[in-house]
Amino acid sequence: MRLLKPLAALAFSLALAGAARAETVKLGVVLTFSGVNAEYGEQIMRAMDLYLKLHGSELGNNKIEMIKRDSGPPTGAGAKTDVTELITQDHVNLLIGFIFSPDAIASAPVVTEAKVPMIVVNAGTAWITNLSPYIVRTSFSMWQSGYPMGTYAAKTLGCNTAAVGYTDYPPGKDELDAFKTGFEGAGGKVVDAIPMGNPVQVPDFTPFLQRVKDEKPNCFYVFVPAGVHAAALVKTYAELGLKAAGVRMIGPLDIVQDTKLQQMGDAAIGLTTIGHYAADYDNPANKAFVKAWHEAYGANAPPDFMAVAGWDGMAAAVHVIKVTNGKLEPDAVMGALKGWSFDSPRGHITIDPTTRDIVQDEHIQEVVKLPDGKLGEKVIETMPAVKDPCKELKVGKCGS
Ligand code: PHB
Repeated sequence: MRLLKPLAALAFSLALAGAARAETVKLGVVLTFSGVNAEYGEQIMRAMDLYLKLHGSELGNNKIEMIKRDSGPPTGAGAKTDVTELITQDHVNLLIGFIFSPDAIASAPVVTEAKVPMIVVNAGTAWITNLSPYIVRTSFSMWQSGYPMGTYAAKTLGCNTAAVGYTDYPPGKDELDAFKTGFEGAGGKVVDAIPMGNPVQVPDFTPFLQRVKDEKPNCFYVFVPAGVHAAALVKTYAELGLKAAGVRMIGPLDIVQDTKLQQMGDAAIGLTTIGHYAADYDNPANKAFVKAWHEAYGANAPPDFMAVAGWDGMAAAVHVIKVTNGKLEPDAVMGALKGWSFDSPRGHITIDPTTRDIVQDEHIQEVVKLPDGKLGEKVIETMPAVKDPCKELKVGKCGS
């Protein structure tokens, strides 16, 4: 009986030690919450909140405190200021977000200097992960779509000639280089490359698409940064009758974003794109994800590729908190992220330990009308476990 007292004391002190071990991790969230692209920030935020609601218990005693900042217009300036303040004033342990490439690019030197790990959940310019050893990406590289689609367009879609249209900023230029390298390497010829405005405002696409119609290439490969840009693009494609004129529009998944697909109407039917996610994907993780999404946000609010990258980004954050037990020493965080793999709604993903970039399946898919009258994506072909071709080929800035 005399043992009971010391045992009770031991149990009490262990409980205290356990309680003391609980950490609050400060997560700096940098997303676009204003302007024409505000819906992207909302979509990613919804995904991160949903992940925490459903998987927050995996944190054990540890907690996440999110400090959110609006990166504003995608020039890089707002995000850089946000990141600097989040690090120096809020003392965040980890950064997450970065929809637009200029925002990630401008923030890279700051996170390198401060050694604060940064999880990129959208920005797709291939060489972003080369800019800092503290950057990891859970979204995509533009080369994961542009390069294989270039090859596919020349070899399988029968495009001998193509024009390329792109929003004129780093990911657009990267997508052009990626498509051109794949397409011309497979025997095609890019006959025109058309810069089509900037991501801050949606241009009138008419002059660009009329130019393509007049040039009559077999295919028109287009990158625009999703959302309202994609909706306007497909509308103009239909209005100018490019399809009837024999010009087939193709592109990365950004031009048929799930959140915009239904409003595009029949004009979108037949669009062939390459991508790593569509809300229709038939795998158990996606079925569960889409169900939870509709329960949380309504039957008419689909998730999309941005939502999935936010979901996977938060899964990565929870993973590092578990592995480090909430002590986010920068090199331990990066160690936990390198080689991390996860059953995402998009399929199985891995973070390449060498490049810190995502490895994922890419699918050639086509917009079809489903039996219920809605538009959906039919997967035509899958390219498994695609590593960023820009880094594999060591092209341009990816070579450094
Ligand atoms: C980017 O800026 O890297 C970006 C933005 C929107 C997209 C894709 C890429 O849909």
